[in-house]
Amino acid sequence: MKVLVTDPIADPGLERLREAGHEVETDYDVEGEALLDAVSDANALIVRSGTDVSREVFEAASELVIVGRAGIGVDNIDIDAATDHGVVVANAPEGNVRAAAEHTVAMTFAVARSIPQAHGRLKDGEWAKGEFLGTELNNKTLGIVGLGRVGQEVAKRLDSLGMELVVYDPYISEERAAQFGADLVDDLHETLARADVATVHTPLLPETEGMIGEDELAQLEGGYLINCARGGIVDEDALAEAVDDGVVAGAALDSFAEEPLPDDSPLLDVEDVVVTPHLGASTEAAQENVAVDTAEAVIAAFNGEPVLTA
Ligand code: NAD
Ligand code: MLT
Repeated sequence: MKVLVTDPIADPGLERLREAGHEVETDYDVEGEALLDAVSDANALIVRSGTDVSREVFEAASELVIVGRAGIGVDNIDIDAATDHGVVVANAPEGNVRAAAEHTVAMTFAVARSIPQAHGRLKDGEWAKGEFLGTELNNKTLGIVGLGRVGQEVAKRLDSLGMELVVYDPYISEERAAQFGADLVDDLHETLARADVATVHTPLLPETEGMIGEDELAQLEGGYLINCARGGIVDEDALAEAVDDGVVAGAALDSFAEEPLPDDSPLLDVEDVVVTPHLGASTEAAQENVAVDTAEAVIAAFNGEPVLTA
């Protein structure tokens, strides 16, 4: 069977497919007509977040059995079109969860202690010790929006640093939240109002798109916003303005509505907005995990075995 891989995945995943006897073609960053051409005789397509798997792709791919997403979010795949064409969509929901949680914690410290800003000044030869007064996380309140796999791992780590936890997630029980030492709140605004640091861990869905806008940022007054989930959940213009105006103390973002983040994004002009280029899952361990899990899902689909669908 032919497996087309259009975003880089770790070698162990590619090797696993070859060992199973499949032909693997890597064609990174292919798009438009070239993607439609490349996928036309593929039996499986493996992507990360860089490939837009649109309805057009499914229409061009008459031999396709499965699309494997070497990561969690499937918002770059048209799931309805996949269903219409009888193509399985499988993600790798576990392998990068700890990496994403660790990056969230790192970004929280980065913005609360102005680490990138201080680093930049020192590299420029300036000893700006008197200009940075950070926020201690101990005894502060963390508002978690979405207590799924990543949210739970973030909860464990920041709980151990002495933070109080409040959670907004309409799909979990109070008991579930309590297992993580968190208080479940049924209102997003109340969660943000109680939080010194708010961290977003929902998928990007019609329901969550634009969920954190001007009104929500006003509730977070004086706090920090972290988004290592998906761009589009947070209104970036509203956030840049809220940080610039001092409504919110700062923000740390790993994901953006448009990626790569355009040069003219207002987020790049605001000093207290820390940004990373979607690095949440970029650890060696996480990339090996998701690559192998995705390869296994593809092999299972080829063998007619059950595949956990996204
Ligand atoms: P998950 O599906 O395990 O958890 C999502 C949680 O969000 C669930 O508990 C769900 O009930 C909750 N939720 C859904 N709608 C909600 C709403 N309207 N309000 C509040 N909560 C809501 O997902 P996960 O594996 O924890 O991933 C979380 C996010 O992180 C996803 O967007 C994923 O794509 C992203 N992610 C990013 C990186 C990265 O590299 N930055 C890495 C891994 C995951
Ligand atoms: C994910 O959803 O798993 C992340 O966006 C990680 C990625 O693939 O870059």
